[in-house]
Amino acid sequence: MCGIVGYIGDRQASRVLFEGLRRLEYRGYDSAGLCVVSPDDGLERVRTVGNLDVLEQVLDGSSSLGGGLGIGHTRWATHGAPTEVNAHPHLDCRGDIGVVHNGIIENYIQLRSELTGLGHTFKSETDTEILAHLIEEYYEGDLAEALRAGLNRVEGSFAVVAVHRNQPDVLVAARRDSPMALGIGEGEYFVASAVPAFLWRTRRVLFLEDNELLRVDRGGYSLSDLDGNQVVRMAVEVEWDLDAAEKGGYEDFMLKEIYEQPRAVADTLRDKMDPSGEIVLDELNMTPEAAKDLRRIIVVACGTSFHAGLLAKYLFERWAALPVEIEIASEFRYRNLVVSREDLVVAISQSGETADTLAGVREANRRGAHVVAVVNVVGSQMTREAKGVIYTHAGLEIGVAATKTFTAQMAAMYVLAVYLGRLRGVVDDVRYRSILEELKAVTGKMERVLEGEGAVRECAEKYHGADDFLFLGRSVGYPVAMEGALKLKEISYIHAEGYPAGEMKHGPIALLDGGVPVVAIAVRDSVYEKMLSNIAEVRARSAPVLAVATEGDEEIADLCDDVIRVPATRDMLYPMLTVIPLQLLAYHIAKLRGCNVDQPRNLAKTVTVE
Ligand code: AGP
Repeated sequence: MCGIVGYIGDRQASRVLFEGLRRLEYRGYDSAGLCVVSPDDGLERVRTVGNLDVLEQVLDGSSSLGGGLGIGHTRWATHGAPTEVNAHPHLDCRGDIGVVHNGIIENYIQLRSELTGLGHTFKSETDTEILAHLIEEYYEGDLAEALRAGLNRVEGSFAVVAVHRNQPDVLVAARRDSPMALGIGEGEYFVASAVPAFLWRTRRVLFLEDNELLRVDRGGYSLSDLDGNQVVRMAVEVEWDLDAAEKGGYEDFMLKEIYEQPRAVADTLRDKMDPSGEIVLDELNMTPEAAKDLRRIIVVACGTSFHAGLLAKYLFERWAALPVEIEIASEFRYRNLVVSREDLVVAISQSGETADTLAGVREANRRGAHVVAVVNVVGSQMTREAKGVIYTHAGLEIGVAATKTFTAQMAAMYVLAVYLGRLRGVVDDVRYRSILEELKAVTGKMERVLEGEGAVRECAEKYHGADDFLFLGRSVGYPVAMEGALKLKEISYIHAEGYPAGEMKHGPIALLDGGVPVVAIAVRDSVYEKMLSNIAEVRARSAPVLAVATEGDEEIADLCDDVIRVPATRDMLYPMLTVIPLQLLAYHIAKLRGCNVDQPRNLAKTVTVE
């Protein structure tokens, strides 16, 4: 996620902005920039690619950049490569208006063509630049009103701050689905996407709500909604220490990221659909004819990304009727796979830098397959080497254990599978619409699962002393069982196995006794009855069973020791819901055992060696 800061006061804005950006540094970035409203020279802007040290060097060498009003930004690319020209702030045609923005403007293609028709010229590939031109279009001497008019044309999410050279005492900001706060100091004001940016100067904070617009000048501030109605809200005194503030009030980044999942999925889905809800996957870089003629899909990935790939296998087979091979990337490179032009290789990687997956991409490229990378980090190595790139929009993930990037990867796989299925005539229009409808509804259901965190914590308290766990699932519940076991191993150091439930009788059942809790994914899907039989087999060996089940299923409560509920959904979509309690279970067990959940021992976020 990007970081935003704005300042108005008596101190040198460029220095204050830079300090604020430094304090948002934990969010990660690939470029940064700021602009100040100089009393003599209008807007002065500096943008650099790379970390903040590069920006600092430029600032140190600059003799100008005076003035007490400005805006700054650290970018984590979503639209457009991480280059200087795409870095914020963005300006309008005349260079009078400066804008920084977080979020995604969904109708930017339509707005861009409309503004181009009105004579505006664009310099970057970003959706943000639209905002500077919209303000320019509506500006009649009042920056706040121009921003309001512009935002009323925008679909999507935004946290935006703007300045105008002709209003050297005014800062305006607004938000929808992206955080924004005002810091109220002594004779100075700060706006930022997160309070750590100004906590070193003030603890008095006014949090903006969705669809609110803030106007700040040296004498004070006013808040209104996007229709122009005044809004009255009291500022609050924030008591968080800096560490807690960086985590948005959560105890750990992992927990924060678990809670960010509905948004990560919504952003990922939104990016792949046009306003009418049709899937648009230009990023595949493959003609519809070629996609139709595919012979096979090979999925390559490691760790959690491999589990997203395991789910994809079920989806591609079911919806696209294509044979699928799923490969652990570190093994893929040593197999003598016969790959041809009619094969699609899907490489899944949060980082886009994992050495084994990258080697798989290179090998598949060499053998002539069409390679598509499913990646969260824009501009990473894999995106440069694959023929097509499907981005997940989970935002920066700091916790070493992947959580929100996993659900975002699964979301991308659903979209790809249903897209291919429709092209190939396997999924008809009615089924296509109903899958997409349910996919959109799933983010709301994820919120509901998160509301059940208390029940998961109680289970964690009950079972955190166990030395071994078994996770069982069938069909699409199997990848979830694998992921649940991996999460527990990674952060709590408890031995855990993820197994296809039907395979349990062929070996792992020997491990069971009263001290080995079994987590069963037993939702009301087509394999439900079979899961009940497996649960009975487990209970017959005295092992306690914790089931992840569907809301309203009373039958299962009598068969298990503990039940965690998720809302009902389509069979194939359950993994988006059932994985969340397993992430929370691993989290709470690890915390109860005193483990560092964000930085587990021996693990690196990205494994760049073979
Ligand atoms: C997940 O919790 C892990 N830390 C790890 O398995 C990870 O998924 C794996 O290393 C792959 O990383 P990538 O998605 O960046 O390629």
